[in-house]
Amino acid sequence: MNQDQLKALVAQAAADYVVANAPEGSIIGVGTGSTANLFIDALAPIKSRLRGAVSSSEAGSARLCGIGVEVFDLGAVTELQLYVDGADEIDPKGAMIKGGGGALTREKIVASVAKEFVCIADVSKLVAVLGSFALPVEVIPMAAPAVARKLEALYPGSQARLRKTKDGAEFRTDNGCPVIDLHGARFSDAAAEETRLNQIPGVVTVGLFAQRGANLLLVGTEKGVEQRRY
Ligand code: A5P
Repeated sequence: MNQDQLKALVAQAAADYVVANAPEGSIIGVGTGSTANLFIDALAPIKSRLRGAVSSSEAGSARLCGIGVEVFDLGAVTELQLYVDGADEIDPKGAMIKGGGGALTREKIVASVAKEFVCIADVSKLVAVLGSFALPVEVIPMAAPAVARKLEALYPGSQARLRKTKDGAEFRTDNGCPVIDLHGARFSDAAAEETRLNQIPGVVTVGLFAQRGANLLLVGTEKGVEQRRY
């Protein structure tokens, strides 16, 4: 199976998990990215069981609307049973790097009100130590150069690069902010590093999801979908 097939496999497993674990009439949290998109597609046949969804991005909202799932503002809910999303990397404790698609801030916010974070990933996302994937850091625009210098000073040998779009323009998130991608740093104590990086003035969100990591991983392997609890 190729990576896309593995993603489709876990996306379907996550939809099955929703049926088994979210009471009928639930509002669920839905993430962003290619794996989350396949999860949204897999929700289509079971959408009548759901009251709706809270989405972590404008792109996710559009896809949910496209299959006829009502999208709620986060302010309309006090708690979500489940939040289902992909990851760029996940370590043995369930800590993740997220934000490759630039939706890290809304992902972290929506995940924070969910009882359970269900991470869906193909096996290539499993790592022993986070950091091979460049760490996304969303920043306030005026702070970008100062934050980039600080990041490189904290992780000697690392490189902080302002994210660009394919046509060379400065990337902006749904919140209108730029993203710095930090290459060459490693995060063995991801929870401590998340706290440390959150202290830098001008940082909106760091793409380490450790303090609120995954509770359940559905990972797509050649042998099928494996479950890991954290
Ligand atoms: C979006 O900002 C990210 O956090 C995604 O969840 C992450 O990049 C995984 O994306 P894929 O499912 O496309 O690999």
